[in-house]
Amino acid sequence: MTTLSTLNKFKKDGTKFTCLTCYDSMFARMMEKAEIDTILIGDSLGMVVQGHDSTLPVTVNDMAYHTANIARSNKHALILADLPFMSYVTLPEAVANSRTLMQAGAHVIKIEGGSELCELVTTLAQAGTPTCVHLGLTPQSVNVFGGYKIQGRGDEAANKLLADAKAVVDAGAALLVLECVPAALAKAVTEAVAVPVIGIGAGADTDGQVLVMHDMLGMAHGRVPRFIHDFLTDERNSAHSIEGAFVLYQQSVREGSFPTEQHQFS
Ligand code: KIV
Repeated sequence: MTTLSTLNKFKKDGTKFTCLTCYDSMFARMMEKAEIDTILIGDSLGMVVQGHDSTLPVTVNDMAYHTANIARSNKHALILADLPFMSYVTLPEAVANSRTLMQAGAHVIKIEGGSELCELVTTLAQAGTPTCVHLGLTPQSVNVFGGYKIQGRGDEAANKLLADAKAVVDAGAALLVLECVPAALAKAVTEAVAVPVIGIGAGADTDGQVLVMHDMLGMAHGRVPRFIHDFLTDERNSAHSIEGAFVLYQQSVREGSFPTEQHQFS
């Protein structure tokens, strides 16, 4: 079974690891067979499962329901679960909602933001709950950003993101996710912090990679972002199966053939 110690060892050894989003039992079983290292019950479920335009309508109860589905079906992966929009504004509600997701089967709680999360990160760490802090394009802030845009471009934004990353790690964050940031910045963050960094649209130099499952199975809705690869129709998936796509993703990330330069931003 994958644990935080496994991921820390992967980082030390330079072994690239995988993460996929997952929301239900059948896919979780296939990911177990493909030995996907970590699973994220992402609040992206609001878009790919529930049909909303953003992740904002997702509730803690939604997250707990889907987290429990995964936890009872996959014993191999480390399980990360998102605290949804506005569920961690105050410390008491953040703690109560983290407890709900941990009791549903999560191993790590993912939260979006920067150094303003430090107090929460430390509180949860002291209460036996590891956190993964998601930086860069944080979809819960889509209305602040004015759309889903690359983050961390330019010296000021890059320096702020790097400082935020260091601050949350100093506060006790166990993992970071970097979404849609220039590859050079993702590399700098990955080298600057001692904890494993998982990237999506962040180039090849992060310690791990994450994709939304529907996207990597060719079910992206509307415009397909450049960091996505369709592993289902890839000719190397000779079985033409979903499980084959998961195995190919796992192999490609481990051997360093995904992502390539065509999947990254500068
Ligand atoms: O909710 C989600 O699926 C995510 C990933 C895009 C990292 O946060």
